[in-house]
Amino acid sequence: MPERTIRLNGKQTKAEYQSAGTGDAQESERLLFWLRERFDQYGPKFGCGVSQCGACTVLVDGVPTRSCTTDVHEVPDNAEIRTLDGLAGNGQRHPLQEAFVKFQAGQCMFCINGMVMGALGWLEGRIAAGNRAVPSTDEIRDFLSGASDDNDENYLCRCGTHSRITAAIRAAAEEMVR
Ligand code: FES
Ligand code: FES
Repeated sequence: MPERTIRLNGKQTKAEYQSAGTGDAQESERLLFWLRERFDQYGPKFGCGVSQCGACTVLVDGVPTRSCTTDVHEVPDNAEIRTLDGLAGNGQRHPLQEAFVKFQAGQCMFCINGMVMGALGWLEGRIAAGNRAVPSTDEIRDFLSGASDDNDENYLCRCGTHSRITAAIRAAAEEMVR
């Protein structure tokens, strides 16, 4: 079986993956299951399985990525992959995690892991581009619905807690731009 080397939450690691076919016809194990089964990363969730909900979101080289529809062979060798499992550092929650707890943003919680990782990639991307403005509620709504200039993927919450999620992302952004 082929092997892929990645930096997972800051640590170099590697594992084999199932693959069939070559060239444009190549198909391989999905990144979601590879991360869960080979690396015990249970942050990314299986929601819809067809890139529609965002529950499986991880960051690949800083870009929010739907791991349910990403084949492992599509991930560049030595890619930097971040999952929710590695977000808290030195026993401290990330500002996004703090804010989601503070605003009680989840109900069943199934969507929340992907919400946090998607928002992380979006906010870090804005900051890296030199935009340190705290996003407005409308901008966050556009982000969540995939309607913003810098994001065309939507994030669904079937419990309908989007207003609390929006408030949590805004509060976290205030911390992150400081
Ligand atoms: S599980 Fe991947 S987008 Fe829904
Ligand atoms: S909190 Fe239940 S799907 Fe979002």
